[in-house]
Amino acid sequence: MHLNHPDIKEVLVTAEQIREKIQELAPKIDAFYADKDVLLVGILKGAVPFMADLSRAMQIPTKQDWMAVSSYGSGTVSSGVVRILKDLDTDVKDRNVLIVEDIIDSGLTLSWLTANLKARGAASVEIVTLLRKPDAAKVEIAVRWVGFDIPNEFVVGYGLDFNESYRSMDGVGILSPAVYS
Ligand code: XMP
Ligand code: MG
Repeated sequence: MHLNHPDIKEVLVTAEQIREKIQELAPKIDAFYADKDVLLVGILKGAVPFMADLSRAMQIPTKQDWMAVSSYGSGTVSSGVVRILKDLDTDVKDRNVLIVEDIIDSGLTLSWLTANLKARGAASVEIVTLLRKPDAAKVEIAVRWVGFDIPNEFVVGYGLDFNESYRSMDGVGILSPAVYS
């Protein structure tokens, strides 16, 4: 689905820009894990397109697993208390884990998840995120690779949804407020 759609108020990142960014990130990640096995952990559901495109642009072999988590809290505000909806099938003990995420907002979800995976005995835990909202950060987290820093607005597309819609858009944009009401 093309990003050029009446429900999108403003285009932030085009499909072409995402492609270029992935071509730039993939060799850096390849180099980082050149002498290690890496387990990619994609966060459902938003990271599905990014995981698929990034992992195919990488040249080193990867293993892949998925987690679904949900932050407790009212409405769209993340609380930092995270519930695992679907856990990994893989034992991460002694594994080098790369969390693949669509967006970092407050940082609370990934802060919790990083600590959780380290507590399971992961040898290393790194993060790659396509998008980050620096103005929304509530906790500092070490993110090794970031695609794009974006304004503190609700965005959809390329995996990100509003009520499960717009995930299939090929780029990322700000949703028109008319859609909420
Ligand atoms: P925190 O605040 O813990 O939350 O970093 C990250 C999660 O919040 C969701 N999120 C969004 N989803 N458009 C979305 O569709 C957005 O603009 C947005 N901001 C945050 C997302 O699930 C992410 O994993
Ligand atoms: Mg969501």
